[in-house]
Amino acid sequence: MVSIIRKPKEMSAFVLERRRAGQSVGLVPTMGYLHDGHMSLVKKSMIENDVTVVSLFVNPIQFCPGEDLESYPRDEEKDLALLAAAGADVLFAPRAEDMYLPGHSVYVDETALSLPLCGGSRPGHFKGVCTVVLKLFNIVRPDRAYFGMKDYQQLQVLRRMVRDLNVPVDIRPCPLIREDDGLALSSRNAYLSEEERRSALALSRSLAKAKEAFEGGERSASVLRGLVRSVLSEEEALEPEYVEVRDAYELSEVESICDPAVIALAVRVGRTRLIDNVVLGG
Ligand code: PAJ
Repeated sequence: MVSIIRKPKEMSAFVLERRRAGQSVGLVPTMGYLHDGHMSLVKKSMIENDVTVVSLFVNPIQFCPGEDLESYPRDEEKDLALLAAAGADVLFAPRAEDMYLPGHSVYVDETALSLPLCGGSRPGHFKGVCTVVLKLFNIVRPDRAYFGMKDYQQLQVLRRMVRDLNVPVDIRPCPLIREDDGLALSSRNAYLSEEERRSALALSRSLAKAKEAFEGGERSASVLRGLVRSVLSEEEALEPEYVEVRDAYELSEVESICDPAVIALAVRVGRTRLIDNVVLGG
């Protein structure tokens, strides 16, 4: 049985009791509409901890004006059924008014890794993410927290937050999960028409081609970017927002790859914005 907890105070009290009994706690923060990508995090947490808390909160402050906050896909009943089948312990699904009290005025602003890539087109997004994740950490007090490499920049920003603010939580990165045909699993895939979904396969195809070239010895970032862009350009429906090769940890620009790097991209398909990435040499 999965317990649903909505009040932050009840959530803290539940975890405190478990911790007093000597149990370890894993937290999987999500915005719901769960898929196998999310569930891979849940499974990892269940292996590594006595208690697994999954949070479901569509965090309003990480959406920019004009983004899909209102239309973000939601299905709490289905999420609950998936978590019950997996054997998770608690679904923490707070209401926005209990997370952000009137006059809320304190935010966490990471000021380096948040700036490039998605930070360019989504100003304030990572400030919203860091703020809500630190709040979730303070409410749940987990030993470990699980984040997917699907949101590669988010993972690095949160690692930096934990390092720089001495947050006593072990951030556990989890591999990016794809459909059999290569499409990175995402709640936003629900927006895609059949035709758009077919076009979107070029994202993973383009990254696979660049990875193959890297494994064949290619080290030039501009050549790898060019390969990705040329595959994306085969699909008229795709509008790339960025394709970048960056240092895997600092997210600084690289020209020639010597240390682990990531190729990250964001692409618009109709009204949907998709992100994907591949790590090279990591
Ligand atoms: P959401 O998009 O729901 O993702 C929740 C977690 O699942 C993130 O850590 C994300 O990287 C991971 N995830 C999503 N798709 C994945 C995939 N295909 N493979 C592996 N992991 C995947 O990311 C957020 O929510 C929010 O920003 C949040 C951290 C909850 C803060 O509001």
